[in-house]
Amino acid sequence: MKRIAVLTSGGDAPGMNAAIRAVTRTGLDRGWHISGIRHGYNGLVNDNQIPLEARVVGGIIQQGGTMLGSSRCPEFETEEGRLKALRTLRKNNIDALVVIGGNGSQAGAHALSEMGYPVIGVASTIDNDLYGSDITIGVDTALDVAIQAIDRIKVTASSHERAFIVEVMGRECGYLALMAGIAGGADAIIIPEAEIDPESAATILRAAYERGKTHALIVVAEGAQCNADKLAHYFQEHRQRLGFELRVTILGHVQRGGTPGSFDRLLASRLGAAATDHLARGQYGILLGLIEDKVTATSLREVATKKKQLDLHLLELARILAK
Ligand code: F6P
Repeated sequence: MKRIAVLTSGGDAPGMNAAIRAVTRTGLDRGWHISGIRHGYNGLVNDNQIPLEARVVGGIIQQGGTMLGSSRCPEFETEEGRLKALRTLRKNNIDALVVIGGNGSQAGAHALSEMGYPVIGVASTIDNDLYGSDITIGVDTALDVAIQAIDRIKVTASSHERAFIVEVMGRECGYLALMAGIAGGADAIIIPEAEIDPESAATILRAAYERGKTHALIVVAEGAQCNADKLAHYFQEHRQRLGFELRVTILGHVQRGGTPGSFDRLLASRLGAAATDHLARGQYGILLGLIEDKVTATSLREVATKKKQLDLHLLELARILAK
């Protein structure tokens, strides 16, 4: 192994920079040349890269986002786009590629790997929906951002005795909403894996007031059918009958832009270092993630075909803790 490349792809996640830094510095330590591919798979398709030296990745461990840029690249989803990407890698004599990202990005890594190219994935997405890692880079920081927002909303909700809906990201997965709901002390949590209808949500909110709470709060995942928009419309339509108003906060991309906390910096450093470790041993076609606190390799084929399950028992815990 003489030259490797690293890219970040899909939604950015706090800690991606720490992973780039770890891949770069552990690769340099082995005497390799490291290329940083700009803007995810776009940079592979269009041959856009920069050399990464130790100083180039200096001062980024504490920064959110990704210094390489990221994107969702429809061209790479076509066979022609992937062949273009392979041509870029071969033209630049790059021996292997490290892909830092979530589901879509690792599906791309799997496709390249199936074409015979050495690829290693590093598990990174705030959604925590990636098979092969109990927790992915960015989740912990995104959760902290969501919880800080919920804490503040509860303060103003209490002052006005109001009901609030807070919608969090997560695409099709309810992990962020479930954990933010438990840690934020929500009265109810609505996730795609366990939907409830707007009338049941209203009943839960009313019951919270009847128990003497000064506010009532539901955390809802963006991927739920009964999302913030739908709830807001329903509450507006039935305002007289329900007897209380609802305020809605959609956290959106605020959750992605946080400064990575220590957990994400450490996880990213460990996974990034493990990537060059595995490449040095000639192991690729794998995703590196954290399973039961150990850095673990899972084949990209498994990652691309299996679905991560959410522990729905936690919903019952959330219900009891909300009393
Ligand atoms: O996958 C990360 C994520 O932030 C999801 O939670 C969200 O649904 C999506 O990306 C938003 O994507 P974009 O930044 O392209 O709007």
